[in-house]
Amino acid sequence: MRVLITGASGQLGNELQRLFETGRAEIGPIPQQFKGAEVVYTDTPQLDITDAKAVERFVAEGRFDLIINCAALTNVDGCESNEDLANRVNALGAENLAEASAWADIPIIHMSTDYVFSGTESGERVESDVAAPLSAYGRSKLEGERLVAAANPKHHIVRTAWLYGYAGNNFVKTMLRLAENHDEVTVVDDQLGNPTSANDLAYELLKIALSDDYGIWHVTNEGTCSWADFAEVVLGGSDCAVKRCTSAEYKATHPESAARPAFSSLRNKHLEDTMGNQMRLWQDALSAYLKNLPTLEG
Ligand SMILES: NC(=O)c1ccc[n+]([C@@H]2O[C@H](COP(=O)([O-])OP(=O)(O)OC[C@H]3O[C@@H](n4cnc5c(N)ncnc54)[C@H](OP(=O)(O)O)[C@@H]3O)[C@@H](O)[C@H]2O)c1
Repeated sequence: MRVLITGASGQLGNELQRLFETGRAEIGPIPQQFKGAEVVYTDTPQLDITDAKAVERFVAEGRFDLIINCAALTNVDGCESNEDLANRVNALGAENLAEASAWADIPIIHMSTDYVFSGTESGERVESDVAAPLSAYGRSKLEGERLVAAANPKHHIVRTAWLYGYAGNNFVKTMLRLAENHDEVTVVDDQLGNPTSANDLAYELLKIALSDDYGIWHVTNEGTCSWADFAEVVLGGSDCAVKRCTSAEYKATHPESAARPAFSSLRNKHLEDTMGNQMRLWQDALSAYLKNLPTLEG
């Protein structure tokens, strides 16, 4: 089994690498089929996914059995001020990989986001719900979904949310860093979603990769909370308090920030209906992460 991972230096790419190298995730061993897999890890310097010719050549020469696309522009506010670049990476770059994988007749796993939803509905979103993004990031990711699905019928489009891994930057690390020299942090309390461990997600991706039930998948840890709830659990036990604010109050002090969905909790319905939903509660995943972070942080 030969696997190409793009965007491998990011949070999710790093967790996939950890799983392939150790043979296990926090929640269990990886599928037997991936033990001893030859995995090629690339990021922009080795393979810029916006370079269609380079992608075509790399995939044609690589004789891969699977592509996992973790490459993306994930800075939501940054995408707002550079929608053109967001589209080039998140939509056209994804299409390049999907076209190359279709040509090679291999499946592609492509990552997407809860931010494809407007968040104005009540109730958890399932895969078949209508998407209506509020931000440039969400629009570019939704266009990426559409282009990937159109280019390669063997696609798994996996939407996740509020991701944190041991490598790179994320909300958990930001809160821990702020707590080192602040008595209080102000955090939005009216946006609800699903904090998700990149290690748990990586484990689930390898199971999905073995399925031929192609389409869209929602994969998040179980349970819904606000960013402020999330911060309180992260900072539990520290002297730093969480002050709750509204999105409108946050926007007043950060006018450049992109709009985000108020309620973008996802239900892992495709998993439930097929192989079963083994994603654990977000509090359990976070607790394991906080315990392991001092030794695994990268
Ligand atoms: N982070 C979240 O909270 C979150 C939530 C929902 C969904 N997702 C989705 O989950 C996936 C993985 O997210 P993540 O948090 O692991 O992202 P990440 O840490 O930002 O990693 C993305 C990687 O892609 C690379 N990249 C950017 N442009 C590229 C290009 N043109 N060619 C090749 N590589 C490129 C980045 O390199 P540079 O750093 O050098 O630019 C980075 O290493 C993404 O599709 C994201 O949209 C993430």
